[in-house]
Amino acid sequence: MAAVRGASVVARASAAARASTPHLMQTRSRTDLTLPKLRSAKTGIRATVFGAYGFLGKYVVSLLAGEGTQCMIPFRGDDMEWRHLRVCGDYGMVTPVPFSPRDEDSMMRATEGSDVVINLMGKDWETMHYVPLLTNCSFDFTNVELAERVARVAVKQGVSTLVHVSALAADKHALSEWARTKALGEEAVRAVAPGATIVRPADVFGPRDRFLNTYARLYGQLGRVPLVDGGNARVQPVYARDVGHALHAIATSNDPDAVLGQTYELAGPETYTHREIVEYVFEVIRAVEAGVINITPAMADMLGSVMRVMPFGPVIDKDKFQRWQTDNVLDEMAATKRLHDLNIEATSLEAPGFNWMHQYRTGSHWLDIKEERGE
Ligand SMILES: NC(=O)c1ccc[n+]([C@@H]2O[C@H](COP(=O)([O-])OP(=O)(O)OC[C@H]3O[C@@H](n4cnc5c(N)ncnc54)[C@H](OP(=O)(O)O)[C@@H]3O)[C@@H](O)[C@H]2O)c1
Repeated sequence: MAAVRGASVVARASAAARASTPHLMQTRSRTDLTLPKLRSAKTGIRATVFGAYGFLGKYVVSLLAGEGTQCMIPFRGDDMEWRHLRVCGDYGMVTPVPFSPRDEDSMMRATEGSDVVINLMGKDWETMHYVPLLTNCSFDFTNVELAERVARVAVKQGVSTLVHVSALAADKHALSEWARTKALGEEAVRAVAPGATIVRPADVFGPRDRFLNTYARLYGQLGRVPLVDGGNARVQPVYARDVGHALHAIATSNDPDAVLGQTYELAGPETYTHREIVEYVFEVIRAVEAGVINITPAMADMLGSVMRVMPFGPVIDKDKFQRWQTDNVLDEMAATKRLHDLNIEATSLEAPGFNWMHQYRTGSHWLDIKEERGE
């Protein structure tokens, strides 16, 4: 049944979708897949997930591999990076493949035999060598050049579905270079693979996020949270699990009209200002001297540049402060698809947020929680 599904994606593609997606046409049927014997692949689908061991990757891989889709995990460092994903599915469902983002041949090997390619590779900050202070992976490289390379590889392999994860903040005229390169990345992907599905999440919250945790860590490190221009810019945070479900639904969809050439904008049910988010964080972590410092954009640039060179990655940097100065919410008039088009009900922030934010409370936080739950 699963094998028929792959063929039907092409067979049922509308004429319009076919005409608009000349490159991203499946040239190989899922019936061609030769999955290893004695393994319990149930869907007959093979997916290559680039960036699988990042924050969002584990949600996607656990849903795909958990239901029996074989997940190829390109990795470029050591085995420690991907091994937590191995338990997401039965034996053989999660397969690591070494690759280099600068070597297209290795990316071809990582995508060989795949029906679906998902690109989750992204950088929140530009990585650099300390001596000398040279940028190693720039926003432009990861968000544009690499995004285009993945699309080109996916087209060459004739995959049926390419999912490119961008960002709701993507905007060619944005203050932030990250947001500008996200927009250019979308253009580059669509130029090579017009049938690619572009997914734009808003700020994502979840355990180990770089959203709520950032405020709590800034409070821990600075004793205050700096807010640019009063923290009035608005956000519409989306739950990591909802994004995972959306990516899974798109990657395994039988309906070409829901996937080919579509753009999904994923955001939560409520909008908040940055100041309101900080107030929520302070409430949960019981910040003793709850306080924010209002800083001007110029001061944010200065502080961000200093924090940029912190070892193990900055909590915040100049570019992220720039993102904090711009609204990152859905445009209700935009003709893009949303979570509800995938039958996913957006989760609001407060209930799940408590589960990982309480760790920032100082002293006996576990006893507090038992008391609050009435245990
Ligand atoms: N999390 C959010 O709030 C959010 C919001 C909007 C959009 N997004 C987008 O969603 C996607 C996934 O986000 P995420 O939060 O899961 O990101 P993440 O935690 O930073 O993970 C990114 C993944 O991409 C890999 N990667 C980054 N640069 C690479 C490069 N130059 N070459 C090879 N691999 C590279 C990383 O591998 P290494 O560890 O080897 O570097 C990691 O596995 C990204 O495109 C991000 O921009 C995220």
